[in-house]
Amino acid sequence: MVITGYRAEHFRNLKWIELFPDPGVNVIFGENGQGKTNIIESIWMFTGCHSFRTHKHTELIEKGQREAKVSLSFTAHGMDNDARLSIQQKREFMLNGAVKESPRRFLGEFQSVVFSPTSLSIVQDAPAERRRFLDIAISMIRPAYSTHLLKYAKILANRNALLKHIAIGGAQEDYLDAWDEQLARCGAHLTMYRLHYVDEAARIAAEIYKEISGGKEDLRLEYQQSSRSFSVDEYEMTENLFTALQRNREGDIRRLQTSVGPHKDDLLIQVGDLSARSYASQGQQRSAALSLKLAEAYVIKDVCGEYPVILLDDVMSELDSARQNLLLEYLKNWQVFLTCCDTTHVSRLQNFKTFRIENGMFFGE
Ligand SMILES: Nc1ncnc2c1ncn2[C@@H]1O[C@H](COP(=O)(O)OP(=O)(O)OP(=O)(O)O)[C@@H](O)[C@H]1O
Ligand SMILES: [Mg+2]
Repeated sequence: MVITGYRAEHFRNLKWIELFPDPGVNVIFGENGQGKTNIIESIWMFTGCHSFRTHKHTELIEKGQREAKVSLSFTAHGMDNDARLSIQQKREFMLNGAVKESPRRFLGEFQSVVFSPTSLSIVQDAPAERRRFLDIAISMIRPAYSTHLLKYAKILANRNALLKHIAIGGAQEDYLDAWDEQLARCGAHLTMYRLHYVDEAARIAAEIYKEISGGKEDLRLEYQQSSRSFSVDEYEMTENLFTALQRNREGDIRRLQTSVGPHKDDLLIQVGDLSARSYASQGQQRSAALSLKLAEAYVIKDVCGEYPVILLDDVMSELDSARQNLLLEYLKNWQVFLTCCDTTHVSRLQNFKTFRIENGMFFGE
C-alpha cells in the first residue's frame, strides 16, 4: 500500500496542503505546533477508524470553517485508488467516486499503523487501552469485527439499563436471562476474533522483542477473559460467559453495571515472567510497545497481503540509536511517514524525502 498523493483543506491548522510522497521514507519536520501530527492524523483517518486524538469530528475542522476535506491517492493490490474524506458534523468517505454508506464501510480499504509516544499507554495504562488497541487492529483486517463490536455495545447498554431498572424495583431479575444469552453469544464471538489476533501478534511481537533485547529477554502476550474462561472453543466460551453473567448477577445489580464480558477483558503483556505494566522498566515498556506496533503492521501484511503505511509520529527522539536502527531496518520496504523537529535522527537514512512544515504549510521539498 503506497500513498502517491495527499491533499488536505481546512483540516485543523492545515488550510491547504499538498504532498506527493516517496514510496519509501518521508520525513516531515518542523518546530512544535506547526502541523506535523495533523498530517499524520489526517492520513490515519483513511483507516476508517476514529482519530487517535479525538472522537469529536468538529475538532478536526479548522476553526472558523465548516468543512475539512482530505484526499488520498494510493495503490493497493496493484490498483490505483482515489479516496476522499469530508468532515462536517459527520465523516463521509468516497472511494473511486462512490460514496460509502458509513465510515465503517471504509474499514479495510486503507491500512496504516501509527506509532507515537502515546503508544506506550498500551503497555502502561488501564486494560481499556489494550482493548482499544486490539479493537482497532482487528477492525482494520476484519471489518466485520466492528459490526460485532457495535452489536455487543448495544446489548451491553441494554443489559446495563435493565440492571438499573431492576435495582429500583422496576423489573424482575429474570428479565436479564434474554440479555445474558445474547451478551454471552456475541461476547464469545468477539473473544474468538481477539484470541486469533493475539495468537498471531504474540508470535511476531515475541520475535521482534527478542531481537530488540539482543536475545536476552522474552515478551509474552496472553488474552485474559474476565469470565475466567480458558476455553478457546466458541460454544464452550458462550456457556462459560453465560454462567459468569449469572454468577455475577447480584453484584451487577448492586453496581449497576456488567462486570464480565469482552468489555472487561485484558491483554496481559509480560516481559520474562512479570507483567510489563507493573514491573518493566521504561526502556522495556518502550520496547514492548514498539514490538506490539510492529507486530500489528506484520499481521496486516500477512492477512491482507499489503504492507500498511507506517506513521511514526515523534518517536525517533524517544528511542536510543540501536532501537532507531532496528526500527528503520524493519521498515526498509515499507512506506513510512515520520515526523520530527529536526532531521538529525534520520540522517543515517540513505533515501528519503523531506518536507519542512511551518504554520500548516510546506516550505519547498
Ligand atoms: N481545529 C483546529 N483549527 C485550527 N488549528 C488547530 C485545530 N486543531 C489544532 N490546531 C492547531 O494545530 C497546530 C499544530 O498541531 P500539531 O499537533 O500538528 O503540531 P506538531 O507540529 O505535531 O507539533 P509538536 O512538535 O509539538 O508535536 C497547533 O498549534 C494547534 O493549535
Ligand atoms: Mg506532534
